[in-house]
Amino acid sequence: METEATFPVTQTRNSRIHEVDFDHLEFGKYVSDHMLVCDYAKGGWEQAEIVPYGNLTMSPSTLALHYGQTVFEGMKAFRMADGRINIFRLERHYERFVRSLNRMCMAILPKEVFMEGLMQLVELDKAWVPTQPGSALYLRPFMYASESRFGVKVSDEYRYIVFTGPVPSLYVNPIKVKVETHYARAAKGGTGFAKCGGNYGGAFLPTKDARDHGYDQVLWTDSATNSFIEESGMMNVMFVINGVLVTPALSDSILGGITRESLLILATEMGLRSEERPVSVSELEKAFQAGTITEAFGAGTAAVVAPINTIHINGIDYSLQGYTPENILYKLKAKLDAIRAGTEADVHGWNYIIG
Ligand code: COI
Repeated sequence: METEATFPVTQTRNSRIHEVDFDHLEFGKYVSDHMLVCDYAKGGWEQAEIVPYGNLTMSPSTLALHYGQTVFEGMKAFRMADGRINIFRLERHYERFVRSLNRMCMAILPKEVFMEGLMQLVELDKAWVPTQPGSALYLRPFMYASESRFGVKVSDEYRYIVFTGPVPSLYVNPIKVKVETHYARAAKGGTGFAKCGGNYGGAFLPTKDARDHGYDQVLWTDSATNSFIEESGMMNVMFVINGVLVTPALSDSILGGITRESLLILATEMGLRSEERPVSVSELEKAFQAGTITEAFGAGTAAVVAPINTIHINGIDYSLQGYTPENILYKLKAKLDAIRAGTEADVHGWNYIIG
């Protein structure tokens, strides 16, 4: 897919790229030179434009600040082995963005603003796409209720913005997680499947508690019974039990991860059995006792895969030791990385190649 200069651009005169230490990237530290902005008002979308990255001015009564109508996406652009750049599964991210917007009762962004806007923005800031192994340009499209009015209401105005920034890979070292049985991330009928800001803000206190007890993240369970696994921290979660890749089936309290979906597709192609089904805490406990669980890992855009070496269940720390490149999680990751790097055929059309 070729990028066309669809949206007007005001280029920065002061690139900040020389401030970036590409050999020591930190997740969320650096933002690229430009951002795309598009406003919705009076029932329609205005002209999207690309401008230098900069602060926003907003009224204290901006609705999003009070009632939480905010939705975002997280995606990545990769430097390929031949030097070209691609954005991974752009269209699938748009579909999820629309699902989130619908749930949060927000205006629906036109597909071409999302797709072409991201392609054009990444093309313009392509010098920011890092080359270091495991690194990528993280893309953060988001939308918020921008109407200034403090009555409790659905906003009539929205602002859509995309900014980007170079990031390293996250959670390279195995993490410790704790099965959470007090707090819940999401409930049936709630917003768990939507990528809305509140889902993340609500997770901070339970995560802080877990960290205070020596764990990196919580393993979320269902809010009704606390007996079924849902997600791991900000990621989907997968296990290898009896050699089968097992992950909780999607529901309205689980975010449909694009990485999760991609890994399941690749697993099938690699001849691995996979199952999307309820995974109970007691199944995990028994699998540890029987020694049939061999891997556990988070799956998400930021980390791709995050190996888990300890799971705390009912007062006991169960461990999974000695991850090696032979583990299924690393084989899946290697295949996904190769597709993104263009060294393996992209048979699904996942790579949206920039110009
Ligand atoms: C991801 O796994 O990409 C996430 O959703 C985390 C993100 C909020 C940084």
